[in-house]
Amino acid sequence: MTTPDPLGRHLLDIESLSSADIHALLERAVELANGATPRTIHCTMANLFFEPSTRTRVSFELAASQLGMRVINIELERSSATKGEGLEDTVATLGAMGIDCLVLRHPETGRLHRLASELHSPVRLLNAGDGQGEHPSQALLDAATLAARGLDWSSLAVAIIGDIRHSRVARSGLKLFHRLGVADLRIAGPDEMLPRDFSFDGMATCTSLEEAVHNADVIMMLRVQRERMDRAGWPEPEQYHRRWGLNETHLELARPDCLVMHPGPINRGMEINAAVADGPHSLILDQVRMGVFTRMAIFEWMLN
Ligand code: CP
Repeated sequence: MTTPDPLGRHLLDIESLSSADIHALLERAVELANGATPRTIHCTMANLFFEPSTRTRVSFELAASQLGMRVINIELERSSATKGEGLEDTVATLGAMGIDCLVLRHPETGRLHRLASELHSPVRLLNAGDGQGEHPSQALLDAATLAARGLDWSSLAVAIIGDIRHSRVARSGLKLFHRLGVADLRIAGPDEMLPRDFSFDGMATCTSLEEAVHNADVIMMLRVQRERMDRAGWPEPEQYHRRWGLNETHLELARPDCLVMHPGPINRGMEINAAVADGPHSLILDQVRMGVFTRMAIFEWMLN
């Protein structure tokens, strides 16, 4: 692993991680999942979420607790943000009180990068999702879930399907799978949900769900991010499901031992049906479980 930056190491996006960091984080997450003893970290972290969350907020809290850290959950509606305090002042205030690390989710794309570039505080920032930007810890936990199964990245066919344009999970996930050397990376979704601002060499855009899942090893379904779309653009769930919802018949087109992933929260009957979400191919709850170990690995990397 690289030497920690004395000015503070943040986790804002996948690009800023070195390849050595990525491999060390995944290896450590898998070790912790297999029962390795966690380090003890005498630090305090705070969760500050400007958007709702179940998985990310709770798993960061559990991860910190497992490492012996002190955890502060800031209730946004009872905080001085409601009195007009700016985010920079809030973070400086938390830093002055001894908060070492802030797990922050914000609806504005790029807000954490802007904050980090202007930060006059030793507080380390962990991006728990910024608008349509990035969600690096989710990408790392998804990769760790696959790494725990000992898969060879260079021979995997991974299909990511659904609302990719508005998904920070997809943006971080695609970047990470590309960095890990996934050989066959495919995306598919309605035209209005395909990305306009990025693509990679070797990333293929498929025109149907059936084409995307053909011989796929990993199928990752994404929720339609209605909170980032005009109401007029919201698809009708049953209609969406008929064209872009994953069901058991689709799995017959994929590899027999294919793995189905979803970062959650899932909308059953829309992007995925219940039989697949709860079926033998599903890794959805494995992803949630691996989220705690991956976030422990992230805290160890960032703070120890
Ligand atoms: N995957 C994810 O970010 O879930 P939450 O919104 O529940 O944190």
